[in-house]
Amino acid sequence: MSTIYNFSAGPAVLPKAVLEKAREEMLDWSGSGMSVVEMSHRSKEFLSIAENAEQDLRSLIGLSDEYQILFLQGGASTQFSMIPMNLLRGSRVADYICTGQWSKKAIKEGKKIGAVNVAATSEEGNFSEIPSFDRWNLSSDGSYVHITSNETIGGVEFHDYPSGLPSPLVADMSSHILSRPLDVSKFGLIYAGAQKNIGPAGLTIVMVRKDLLERTPPDLPSMFSYAVQAENESMFNTPPTYPIYMAGLVFKWLKELGGLSVIEQMNIRKSSMIYDQIDKTGFYRSPIDKQYRSRMNVPFRIHDESLEDLFLKDAKDGGLLQLKGHRSVGGIRASIYNAMPLEGVETLLGFMQDFENKHG
Ligand SMILES: Cc1ncc(COP(=O)(O)O)c(C=O)c1O
Repeated sequence: MSTIYNFSAGPAVLPKAVLEKAREEMLDWSGSGMSVVEMSHRSKEFLSIAENAEQDLRSLIGLSDEYQILFLQGGASTQFSMIPMNLLRGSRVADYICTGQWSKKAIKEGKKIGAVNVAATSEEGNFSEIPSFDRWNLSSDGSYVHITSNETIGGVEFHDYPSGLPSPLVADMSSHILSRPLDVSKFGLIYAGAQKNIGPAGLTIVMVRKDLLERTPPDLPSMFSYAVQAENESMFNTPPTYPIYMAGLVFKWLKELGGLSVIEQMNIRKSSMIYDQIDKTGFYRSPIDKQYRSRMNVPFRIHDESLEDLFLKDAKDGGLLQLKGHRSVGGIRASIYNAMPLEGVETLLGFMQDFENKHG
């Protein structure tokens, strides 16, 4: 089979070394005679897998004991509801910053639970930027400030975060978690669906400052309660065991690579290569303001949009898969998560140059 490169926005490419390790251990995990998929979540074997995954995640990020890690299910979309159910219910208001399609979804679900103040939005500018922090119209008695720190569809990314906010910062980091070092102390809660930079779909990771667990209303259904999930160390019910195991392999892979500062340098290099090509001649264009461009999701257009279908077809024929932009915005999008090898980006670049030479 010739080499293919998968630019899917998620579920997405995983490190080859991780897939090989999972294959090697598929039928017999560490001499146990069992596959991880067959193990009881209460067995000592699985408990050690989950414990190691948690410790490796803590050490990668440098997460202190002030924060609880939860391994949940339901995707980031369930967090759109769980966050307001746990942190907002009651009389207060929550602030949301709207930077794209995923923020809009979080806002829509938040409004079903309580009062939402959209404190800033970049919608008038077609989500090509992030509203500067001094333009955030935050509530003085807000319960949290929600951001989507990387918009997977639109391709804008927060490259820094505000300090000294009147309420805890809550971030949907689904599509750029672990792509760069993170100062967790600026956040009350961070969440991410696993299927981009962490592992298979089915696992959702939440990191929550422990004092916020006290806000959970006691009558909340148990599965939706951060407090119950924390008390039960993510084992209130059967957790997504195999995705947790795979996530653990990804955390080990990242640690062996040298950690988040090393992967950040690789991500800067890969994304700059594509943006430089886009900006070079005017044949391609990026819809995003330079200072807010995402290192993970690179949406772009061809100046003559009628060429885009041909671009996608020729790319696919050349082994470059899943480059179609999200159905809501069209165009082209290259998702280049941690696991996308440099050779994949180089191959895409070569293809872009050839396509431009032929059609420019
Ligand atoms: C930034 C962001 N938030 C939320 C979601 C929804 O995630 P899930 O499908 O895991 O519910 C996605 C999915 O792509 C996403 O990219």
